[in-house]
Amino acid sequence: AKELVRVLVTGAAGQIGYALVPMIARGVMLGSDQPVILHMLDIPPAAEALNGVKMELVDAAFPLLKGVVATTDVVEACTGVNVAVMVGGFPRKEGMERKDVMSKNVSIYKSQASALEQHAAPNCKVLVVANPANTNALILKEFAPSIPAKNITCLTRLDHNRALGQISERLNVQVSDVKNAIIWGNHSSTQYPDVNHASVKTPSGEKPVRELVKDDGWLNGEFITTVQQRGAAIIKARKLSSALSAASAACDHIRDWVLGTPEGTWVSMGVYSDGSYNVPSGLIYSFPVTCHNGDWKIVQGLAIDEFSRKKLDLTGAELSEEKELAYSCLS
Ligand code: NAI
Repeated sequence: AKELVRVLVTGAAGQIGYALVPMIARGVMLGSDQPVILHMLDIPPAAEALNGVKMELVDAAFPLLKGVVATTDVVEACTGVNVAVMVGGFPRKEGMERKDVMSKNVSIYKSQASALEQHAAPNCKVLVVANPANTNALILKEFAPSIPAKNITCLTRLDHNRALGQISERLNVQVSDVKNAIIWGNHSSTQYPDVNHASVKTPSGEKPVRELVKDDGWLNGEFITTVQQRGAAIIKARKLSSALSAASAACDHIRDWVLGTPEGTWVSMGVYSDGSYNVPSGLIYSFPVTCHNGDWKIVQGLAIDEFSRKKLDLTGAELSEEKELAYSCLS
């Protein structure tokens, strides 16, 4: 039998948490043969709701779910975890300054970084979902210096999947036949969804998306803004932000990281920049990556045209600025 894996979900009483924990308990994240113990953390005002989620997990009688820890104690939540999905955070409320929201999240991620560093299992893999996702992940990395930088990532897979979805709708093909889109940069509206290297499986072989779509105006315009603004469109329609698609993307992110990406396919992950593609190092920036044996690697050598270069730089500049703002909250 496989060894048990402990998965932490912070903010587990929230919307994404509610969609995510049953997926994990069903094996969507780690495989249908992988028994799991769920660790769920939330804050005291949400403790009762969190306990309600725990009751539902018991009621669902998931065969793979071998235990549930539901707690408001960050040390108890982090102890022994092999995977940490950080969904908890402080949302921006009307009339709040950007700096105030940043400051709340910096203090949350600073303290949760220490708890993970001291109590998580060795080689724990961390995925930050809560916004500002890239910068929260960077703060977590800075305050957990003994966790290898390669173990700390943020979620841009939802944006990646949205890009695949848009191409599939436009071409009227199965989304599973579309691959190798790229989300560059920040999980924000400055992200750059890039399909210059994306392809579609067709009866006559793999074809570049650019060749099939033909309409460069759409690809360089509406396609990009639709993906960038999709989160806002969901809020407008649902009066709530994306939750099922975010939870599903978090499962995709961890599954591919742990179990590997298929040969010839890459995915987008926010990872610690090593300066690839002339992106400033020391930022958590979304790149195309392949995963093998539990490690990711940035795909190298893709041609970047002038149009793309500007967009990579713009979203990088926003991240540098966010980093500065986050640091100014520390002093
Ligand atoms: P939500 O407000 O429904 O849930 C957040 C939960 O976090 C709440 O239960 C809250 O009590 C909890 N929380 C707050 N501070 C905490 C702390 N210090 N420790 C533990 N838990 C804490 O929000 P929702 O819709 O579930 O979204 C969660 C986050 O994910 C938000 O920051 C949202 O912006 C972000 N998000 C990111 C996406 C991405 O693609 N990276 C996509 C969609 C949402």
